[in-house]
Amino acid sequence: MSGSAAMRSHTCGQLRAEDVGTEVVLSGWVANRRDHGPVRFVDLRDRYGITQLIAEEDASPAGMEGLSGLHPEDVIQITGVVRMRVEGQRNPDRDTGDIEVLVSSVNKISSAARLPFEIADHIDVPEEMLMRYRYLDMRRSPMQERMKLRTKANHAFRNALVEEGFYEIETPMLTRSTPEGARDYLVPSRMRQGNWYALPQSPQLFKQLSMVGGMDKYFQIARCMRDEDLRADRQPEFTQLDMEMSFVDEEDVYSLVERVMAAVYREIKGVELQLPLERMPYSESMRRFASDKPDLRNPIEVVDLATEGAGLDFVVFNNVLKDGGWVRGIRVPGGASLSRKQVDSIEAAAKDAGAGGAAWCKVTAEGPTGPLSRFLKVGEGETAVDCAVGIGNLSQGGAAFLKAIDAYPGDLVVTIADAPRRAMTALDAIRNKAGALMELIEGSDRLLWITEFPLFEETDDGGYHPAHHPFTCPVMEDVEALQAGEKESIRSRAYDLVLNGVELGSGSVRIHDRALQKTIFEAIGLSEEVANERFAFLLEAFRYGVPPHAGFAIGLDRLYALLFGADTIRDVIAFPKTATASCPLTGAPSVVDETQMGELGISQLTPDSSNEA
Ligand code: AMO
Repeated sequence: MSGSAAMRSHTCGQLRAEDVGTEVVLSGWVANRRDHGPVRFVDLRDRYGITQLIAEEDASPAGMEGLSGLHPEDVIQITGVVRMRVEGQRNPDRDTGDIEVLVSSVNKISSAARLPFEIADHIDVPEEMLMRYRYLDMRRSPMQERMKLRTKANHAFRNALVEEGFYEIETPMLTRSTPEGARDYLVPSRMRQGNWYALPQSPQLFKQLSMVGGMDKYFQIARCMRDEDLRADRQPEFTQLDMEMSFVDEEDVYSLVERVMAAVYREIKGVELQLPLERMPYSESMRRFASDKPDLRNPIEVVDLATEGAGLDFVVFNNVLKDGGWVRGIRVPGGASLSRKQVDSIEAAAKDAGAGGAAWCKVTAEGPTGPLSRFLKVGEGETAVDCAVGIGNLSQGGAAFLKAIDAYPGDLVVTIADAPRRAMTALDAIRNKAGALMELIEGSDRLLWITEFPLFEETDDGGYHPAHHPFTCPVMEDVEALQAGEKESIRSRAYDLVLNGVELGSGSVRIHDRALQKTIFEAIGLSEEVANERFAFLLEAFRYGVPPHAGFAIGLDRLYALLFGADTIRDVIAFPKTATASCPLTGAPSVVDETQMGELGISQLTPDSSNEA
């Protein structure tokens, strides 16, 4: 039984045929009403289900009176007796569908105003409206189901980790800047005006300090705040399953994460994950998929066409190659059957990803067709090359190009020529789009470790910053080169977990050696002074005996969106924010009054922009 016995003896999902004859008290929301003259029906709903209430003029005049004049979503409490529904009126789709409650009295607890949308499973309402009235959206079964699954999954993670001997440690929300590389959300200090707390981008430094503190195995279901440009799979505040362990290396982290992921798959999907999970070094992933988060369900791979592209006399390719860019492409098996509109949508995906376009051709026995074809076809008066797979009308260069990408008649070839970073995102986008159009992306979840990430990433101004964060350990064989000033080729002991093309989590083996840490700070141009200023507390802690340690964080919102089959991470977050980091429900962020700002010692320089956009 749930709730106080005085408020309800049963929930709305609980009564069955064996309860017939029992007097019950039920409380809930009015989901549906039907008046049939001397008989009145109400469907009463709560989190647990729906129970049909009935009142009859002869048998229950007080009930008849009480059930009149109700509005959808009024909250009522009723007393009544359970009885079988008459044959033919039973509802096999509902757990309580065999019975109904003959109502003897009704207590109207709270009335509901006219609703902005219907509380039903399938409704066509803009997402912003659902977010504005999230508490109403929550009454619908999709949200109910996702919150239930989220609880189960969190519980499974927590159980698995506690059983493994982990301590659950809560770390501060009001803290100093953390090293994840996004912009901080700042909170002014009233006590020490002019000073600011930063909200944590992750508990990274505190979990490392817990290792110095001998906690050995730490975890937390942690809220993280990052002021970054939002994309479909990013929220300004989100939740991580954050973990750290002492006296371990990456193998221990992989197997721990695999065990806890297996526990959640068992609980949520009822399936046994095949362990160990697949692994792929970053360099291989980039070469084969031009991505550090490839969706392995999609068999399409990326091919480097720089050499063959240079032989085509195509000015776009040549210019890009001259500037150090990429010419790479994909072969879509059977893709010649796609319509012009579909092929255009692949090109549009490349453009959306920031590339200038995508040059493509369809491959037929009579030769290639489409925009790229004129650079591949044989010139007038020349003899076509005899192509082994039977593609007609090819020039020497064209044959070499199509051979390099292994094209056959019936295929579609799509190429991207652009600066490496843009080309990479575009290739990932066309690979995904083409895979979806050809219905190639199917089969069970493909979880994959990407290992040996580079330690540094080049910044737009030609400098370097840590690809993960500055406490990530380099691969030992690369340390000598690092000390000699090399950056690009230095590999790190950082790893990601990828699920169906989504980066689910990241982690690394950390540096526990002060001298090595100093080398890294120097390499990213962080002076000792600045490093000391930002991370003094951590560096100081490292003077008192540091265990080797490593960790990982899983983005729970991303994982749950995939596991629960939701369209976006917003769907699995109880109170999410929009793409402009605002909350339609509370109106946050909002203007605060000047007194409050005065107390904090701050004043507004720019005009109030809360009414814009
Ligand atoms: P990282 O920054 O890679 O690593 O974050 C780990 C995982 O958190 C999720 N994530 C997000 N989810 C939703 N919205 C966002 N804005 C967002 N940003 C990140 C992703 C990501 O893989 N402290 C390190 C972990 C470690 O080294 O142990 C960290 O936070 O799924």
